[in-house]
Amino acid sequence: MRAQDLIQQKRDGEELEPEQLAALVDGYTCGEVPDYQMAAFCMAVFFRGMSDAETAALTRAMLYSGEVLDLSDIPGVKVDKHSTGGVGDKVSLALAPIAAACGVKVPMISGRGLGHTGGTLDKLEAIPGFQVRLPVERFREILASVGACLIGQTERIDPADRKLYALRDVTATVESIPLIAGSIMSKKLAEGIDALVLDVKVGKGAFMRKTEDARKLAHTLAGIGRATGKKVVALLTAMDEPLGRTIGNALEVAEAVEVLRGGGPDDLRELTVALTAEMVLAAGLAGGHPEARRMVLGAIADGSALAKLEEIVAAQGGDPAAIRDPERLPRAASTRVVAAPRPGLVQAVDARALGIAAMTLGAGRSRVEDPVDPSVGIVLQKKTGDYVEEGEPLCVLHCGSAGAASPDEVAGRVRDAFRIGTVPAEPRRLVLERIA
Ligand code: URA
Repeated sequence: MRAQDLIQQKRDGEELEPEQLAALVDGYTCGEVPDYQMAAFCMAVFFRGMSDAETAALTRAMLYSGEVLDLSDIPGVKVDKHSTGGVGDKVSLALAPIAAACGVKVPMISGRGLGHTGGTLDKLEAIPGFQVRLPVERFREILASVGACLIGQTERIDPADRKLYALRDVTATVESIPLIAGSIMSKKLAEGIDALVLDVKVGKGAFMRKTEDARKLAHTLAGIGRATGKKVVALLTAMDEPLGRTIGNALEVAEAVEVLRGGGPDDLRELTVALTAEMVLAAGLAGGHPEARRMVLGAIADGSALAKLEEIVAAQGGDPAAIRDPERLPRAASTRVVAAPRPGLVQAVDARALGIAAMTLGAGRSRVEDPVDPSVGIVLQKKTGDYVEEGEPLCVLHCGSAGAASPDEVAGRVRDAFRIGTVPAEPRRLVLERIA
């Protein structure tokens, strides 16, 4: 196989055979196919798409680039959740411990920030000492003893996604249904799960801006999962404005802890409860949605979910004191208020613009090797539907000493991300559809 022939075939709209995709993925994983060829291939897929058969073959090739875990010796139903990517989406940080406190086993392999969206691994690493790179044996031990373990792709588990994910992030090749499906499902199938709950985001801040594209992605993901015998449920959820009030790694950890303490912003709490209840149901631990929700709310109210997060953090080398007292999380060097230029009603908050702004402050990467500053980000003081006076804070920037852009420049972009008018915004639903 010559990589350039496969790139050319895909560029010209031809369908590739499973063996060709397997050879390309294997070649890339072991370093024989260089980044520049794989980037060209991803761009060809971005424009030409893939058939269902090609998408399934790509997923299989990525899945078998590493080990596929067999967790059948660990008692309990294993259920994971994955989001297709949003801004301010810290749901996994609260959901994993809540689900584990309810008795679900949660083996979670997550990703880093991708495009303008944040990643669970970067958020977890904001907790001092937290290890997202663990040997498979330790992952199994923690899952068995604590009930949840959250790690990244490794050299042993889905190494193809480990490389491809980082490459797509910096080559504008993220927003492609086959590439997203291959990335998500290869990781999830490698985990040894019984069931999967998907949060498929749709809107201006999502990779899928149109509902029909998000629905197609949900069906593609669910089809791959079901073909391998997994139970899959997908919620299509709105991602026009950021979820919750924080964007940025340490800020988002603190907000997830608020949810576990029974507080937190309404939208974040609502989505966390809805997705975790789906996990409890998928695990067969509740007879219906009302009971699953009661269990989830109970685990928050009795403190067992918060205690479970502390346990997970301690097991993965982190400092549980930073969960008990989020003031111990990394703090930004300085803050800067972004004020409203005029009075009025907030009609929209552009999640994509704020995601990019947080990235330029240092919360995400624009090159594979860029470091992430866990302390920086944005705290929203106003969201869609709120009234704001002229000069009142719209949000607060948490700035580091070495962001890619000056705080002045970021402040200007952030101010423009808030649409202020006189007419109230249309009320929006958070959970748009359930696909089971
Ligand atoms: N999440 C992933 O793991 N991969 C993608 O491509 C998008 C979201």
